[in-house]
Amino acid sequence: MKSELSKIKEQAIEDFKEVVDLEKLEQLRVKYLGKKGELTGVLRGMGKLTAEERPVIGQLANEIRAQLEETIESRKSELAHIARQAKLEAETIDVTLPGKPVATGKRHPLTQVLDEIKEIFLGMGFTIEEGPEIESDYYNFEALNLPKEHPARDMQDSFYITNEVLLRTHTSPVQVRTFESNFPQVPLRIIAPGKVYRRDDDATHSPMFHQVEGFVVDKEVTFGDLRGTLLTFAKEMFGEDREIRLRPSYFPFTEPSAEVDISCVNCDGQGCRVCSNTGWLEILGAGMIHPKVLANTGYDPEKVTGFAFGMGVERIAMLKYGINDLRMLFENDIRFLDQF
Ligand code: PHE
Repeated sequence: MKSELSKIKEQAIEDFKEVVDLEKLEQLRVKYLGKKGELTGVLRGMGKLTAEERPVIGQLANEIRAQLEETIESRKSELAHIARQAKLEAETIDVTLPGKPVATGKRHPLTQVLDEIKEIFLGMGFTIEEGPEIESDYYNFEALNLPKEHPARDMQDSFYITNEVLLRTHTSPVQVRTFESNFPQVPLRIIAPGKVYRRDDDATHSPMFHQVEGFVVDKEVTFGDLRGTLLTFAKEMFGEDREIRLRPSYFPFTEPSAEVDISCVNCDGQGCRVCSNTGWLEILGAGMIHPKVLANTGYDPEKVTGFAFGMGVERIAMLKYGINDLRMLFENDIRFLDQF
């Protein structure tokens, strides 16, 4: 029996060495060590052995089993190594192939324009203030020289929450809030960006849109300062060649008031479809802060003056990028947004 066992052992080791793939190796393992394998087969004859022989043969069989298992394991890793090596040699890598692009997000075009506007005014020494989007009638209208029943309230069709509370229709209430909290300090050079709400909905109006309010209060601030500030802004935003034009207008909270146009970004003022052949595009409303607004918050309009302006961010973005339907800015269509 001893010699039978060592014969099996030698034969098995030889077979293991010759085998070249993992599947065949497994078949050999079953052949020699499996339940119906050769080793087990020999041990079935143990019954015929004497009581002294049995443990000796048993121990020998266990040793052989362990040895064979070890051999199989090391052959296995040898074969795996060989297979990997072969695969590596067969594989050629084209290092000139372009890599897989990593999809990165980007800022929404409105955020880009807003950031640019902020950057320009921060460069001129302005700082940023914010105010609430849910506003009281007082800050949105009254304090801005728009008493109840004032016809100019109709210019800004509002979303009311209660009689006294509404969604702000413009960023001008931030003027009042800033004056109140800073009085009697001057100079003030502030921009106030944010969302505003009006009952309007078409290709150039959305019920929610964005404005940037800007205002300066100091001793001897003039209309010329307003013009210079806005010209600087227009040139930085739309290009060195831009000119601006101020047309008389009306806002209850500024006096005098103006609509501000830039020379058409499309035709450079020659006249085209974009500017309805006028050569000019309206970009914002502005004026000298009404004495009543200053007085409402404690400032003495005899001692300090100021200018203010308010622009629509969507409008600036549409002009800058040639977008003709404002609603595209809010549809979140990646094919559109990806272009900016
Ligand atoms: N608040 C005005 C509007 O929304 C714009 C404006 C702001 C005009 C400041 C003059 C001064 O129409």
